[in-house]
Amino acid sequence: MALKENIQSLLTQVGELKANNAEELEALRIKYLSKKGEITALFNEFRNVPNDQKRELGQMLNQLRQQAESRINALREQFEEAAAETDHPDLTRTPDPIALGTRHPLSLVREEIEDIFSRIGFTIAQGPEVEDDKHVYGMLNFAPEHPARDMQDTFFIEKEIGVQKPTDVLLRSHTSSVQTRVMTSQKPPIRVLCPGRVYRNEAISARAHCFFHQVEGLYIDKNVSFADLREALLYFSKEMFGPETKIRLRPSYFPFTEPSAEMDISCNICGGTGCSFCKGTGWVEILGCGMVDPNVLEACGIDSKEYSGFAFGMGIERITNLKYRVKDLRLFSENDVRFLRQFESC
Ligand code: PHE
Repeated sequence: MALKENIQSLLTQVGELKANNAEELEALRIKYLSKKGEITALFNEFRNVPNDQKRELGQMLNQLRQQAESRINALREQFEEAAAETDHPDLTRTPDPIALGTRHPLSLVREEIEDIFSRIGFTIAQGPEVEDDKHVYGMLNFAPEHPARDMQDTFFIEKEIGVQKPTDVLLRSHTSSVQTRVMTSQKPPIRVLCPGRVYRNEAISARAHCFFHQVEGLYIDKNVSFADLREALLYFSKEMFGPETKIRLRPSYFPFTEPSAEMDISCNICGGTGCSFCKGTGWVEILGCGMVDPNVLEACGIDSKEYSGFAFGMGIERITNLKYRVKDLRLFSENDVRFLRQFESC
């Protein structure tokens, strides 16, 4: 009966099997179930059991083997689950693709304008958006009662919150203020480009906004002529809109330039034959320009008998509209990703 007792004692052992890790578990499997294991040894002994006991002992042995197997499998599952929980992330795995941001169309166009003018010697100058009357209007030959200073056009800053006193602190309404700052701090020759945000007190609509962006240019040296201005602007227009582009200058008025002009380019949508964009004229206006008024040079401490210069200014939104056909100005400041994503490949 030694076999029967052995089976019974192993049955109790197997029911209490414990292992702290996978190695210990494997040692148990070898101890009981491998070819030289204790349970296998009992099966070998079973061959010598008298026939009348074979049935009972055979059942007991099979039960023992099943119990040992299922106990060991249950322990193995526990280890595998615990291992999965504490598993480190796979650092060799390809990461999920990260969606890249896009450049804002106004930045793209501003940089293109800067690039074109930097190739003919212009450098970038910047100045404050909160300005004073002197730099935005006074030194630029605006008469004291000029309507641009009107509250309708200019945002004035109250010096004390809630107290509306006459103030000369304002949000710049054009980047010509940077030009006055450059002229008072540098000696000619001067060749600068002044990009930046400007503010005007306008109701927001598809065609107007209370802030927009400009690039203005200033060139001062001895013997600068209107022909130099025209050549610089023709070069810019061809670089920006293609070599077929033509320009036309129409007389105009600005307080700080004399003579002054507005410049049209041949419509880059219909090529000048007339379409709905250029209202059938074949031309679209893109900028204002002129020869710097001697009064401005003198106000900035530059001798107007020795030096002359030209200036021009354009809205970046306008140029962007022409390049990318954006019909509603509000799209530029609403940060709608459906709009911004369209510039992904630019
Ligand atoms: N400052 C003008 C504007 O804001 C543009 C301009 C600049 C015109 C320089 C002429 C010369 O509209």
